[in-house]
Amino acid sequence: MRTIVLHEEAQPSKSTIYCGEGAFERELPRALESYSERFVFTDGNVSRLWGARIREVLGDVPVFTMPAGEEHKTEETLFALLQAMAKAQLHRTGCLVMIGGGVVGDVGGLAAALYMRGIACFQVPTTLLAQVDSSVGGKTAIDFLGIKNLVGAFNQPEAVFADPCFLSTLPPREVRCGIGEMVKHGALKEELFEKLLMRRKELMALSVPVDLIADNIAFKASVVAEDAKESGPRKSLNLGHTTAHALELALKTRSHGECVLLGTIFEAEIARRHETCDEGYLFELISLCKEVLGSIPALPPAKEWTPLALLDKKNTAKDAVVVTAPVCRGTYRLIALPYAEYAREAEEIQAKIC
Ligand SMILES: NC(=O)c1ccc[n+]([C@@H]2O[C@H](COP(=O)([O-])OP(=O)(O)OC[C@H]3O[C@@H](n4cnc5c(N)ncnc54)[C@H](O)[C@@H]3O)[C@@H](O)[C@H]2O)c1
Ligand SMILES: [Zn+2]
Repeated sequence: MRTIVLHEEAQPSKSTIYCGEGAFERELPRALESYSERFVFTDGNVSRLWGARIREVLGDVPVFTMPAGEEHKTEETLFALLQAMAKAQLHRTGCLVMIGGGVVGDVGGLAAALYMRGIACFQVPTTLLAQVDSSVGGKTAIDFLGIKNLVGAFNQPEAVFADPCFLSTLPPREVRCGIGEMVKHGALKEELFEKLLMRRKELMALSVPVDLIADNIAFKASVVAEDAKESGPRKSLNLGHTTAHALELALKTRSHGECVLLGTIFEAEIARRHETCDEGYLFELISLCKEVLGSIPALPPAKEWTPLALLDKKNTAKDAVVVTAPVCRGTYRLIALPYAEYAREAEEIQAKIC
């Protein structure tokens, strides 16, 4: 079991992340002992696959189950959850346990921040993406008015329990998604990139070594510890994400992690045109993204999806698009482009890679 402590520089509180077998069935019940009540939040798929096991580990606790999927990461789900917590008369001394992927973690974390102005919450990430990325760092949100993560709050969970047992039921496509965020981390930290290349065979067979999961958690925790509110270094974690979010909104059928891989390819190509880059490295990074994706999916014409990049929260001006692009091993640049230039380059890149 690896234990990683996320201690924000500016905060007295700490969040502990347990990664390894037994995190769910041993560490979680131990951590919940001091809470008067527990309320579980999960989604339909996790409930179907893991409901019986959850009851074995946590006993007879109230559970609210949301329908699975990003399309339900909405205010309706958030308020339905808050209503269920209120109806169960959950007190301020109780806690919310989110058991699911990034959607459950994001909605549940926000509900925990709002309920009685904040109650304790615990994350049990059940997808690879949630283990290596979304459960760490305390960002919570719902999508609102068609804009991803428009309404949210920073809210660190008391602890995170990343247990590989859950990955046994994860569909291959979801495993690929998690590897997408691991590739993003690899683009930001040379040592992780080397490890990804070294473990390439295992990764392509979609078997993800638990030590690599822990390394990714430790990396994300270290970035968040330095800059929890995303005023500086945490911005690096948006690598590939401006384009990824636009594609995610346009494609609908493609998941976040797949769009991150696509976004990384587009933004690496944009970097090539604007920055001094290590060409050999970008080639390696792009081929890794393509290999994880399997093949580049059919995309709608660029002019249909590029306007969605203007909705990105990272943009600093109304008609400019800011991308976080890889340039050399472990190095990224923020590149601000007038929208027309971004749209033209995206169209050219799409013609080249598809
Ligand atoms: N808060 C953050 O810092 C952060 C970072 C990255 C992504 N995110 C958010 O996370 C979300 C994506 O997360 P995700 O990919 O986990 O999506 P998800 O929560 O929708 O899970 C993907 C699918 O896997 C199913 N699932 C979950 N666990 C399973 C298991 N063990 N076995 C079988 N099926 C299982 C879910 O029901 C769902 O159908 C997006 O909304 C994204 O914006 C947040
Ligand atoms: Zn992401």
